[in-house]
Amino acid sequence: MEVIVLPTAADVARLAADVIERLLTTSPDPVLGLATGSTPEPLYQELIRRHREEGLSFAHARAFTLDEYVGLPAGHPERYAAVIRRGLTDHLDLKPEAVQGPDGSSADLLGECTRYEQSIVDAGGVDVQITGIGSDGHIAFNEPGSSLASITRLKTLNALTRADNSRFFSSAADVPRHVLTQGLGTILRSGHLLLLATGGSKADAAARAVEGPLTASCPASIVQLHPHATVLLDQAAGAALEHGEYYAEVWANRPVWQPL
Ligand code: F6R
Repeated sequence: MEVIVLPTAADVARLAADVIERLLTTSPDPVLGLATGSTPEPLYQELIRRHREEGLSFAHARAFTLDEYVGLPAGHPERYAAVIRRGLTDHLDLKPEAVQGPDGSSADLLGECTRYEQSIVDAGGVDVQITGIGSDGHIAFNEPGSSLASITRLKTLNALTRADNSRFFSSAADVPRHVLTQGLGTILRSGHLLLLATGGSKADAAARAVEGPLTASCPASIVQLHPHATVLLDQAAGAALEHGEYYAEVWANRPVWQPL
């Protein structure tokens, strides 16, 4: 695990974009794992900019989203399938059919979870998985108490997450209670896990994920178990880290030949 604390959220976005750009330019068949929410928005803006201004191509890539609300009607703007199209994939040369997410309006939700998990396996797995972190330590929509070995399944959001996400809805009561989400086991199988956190409201959760115990009570603590995890934080999100000075020393002395 590598922890990198950068001055601003824009710096986090640029470094994360560098990782994705390297994957896109070195792999003939890159598979991206995409998160929704506010945290990756500057990263997605940066990827769109590099596509438009520098010709970075996504035409050969495929992508899988982490999670989806259950029960939002077709056409609802907060369905994560719509959010990721609006915020990223509509602005790239990624083929629409190359972007998949779990279908939260399936009549067979259990079967849909099995199908989605298998589609990730069939694609050869996710190469670079982008995630945010919830203020309760969730990753994707794996709330505290999630099995460390879980795969894609239905979960129930807790009150804190529904309150946090109420900014996208008219009220907390309108935030769906149920979601389909990749499991912690699914995320652990990604090739490179890139966890992003920005802003002071994430400082406590980021410190627990990185320096607390590996525990289902803080699902994002699986970054400690992943064989190749990079945690990118801005100053505010890194403020509660105990070993911040050491992470800064590692970053400042990173060998130039060593990729993230
Ligand atoms: C979204 C997701 C969630 C968010 C988390 C943080 O696909 O998987 O885990 O990453 O809720 O959300 P923001 O970034 O909005 O603070």
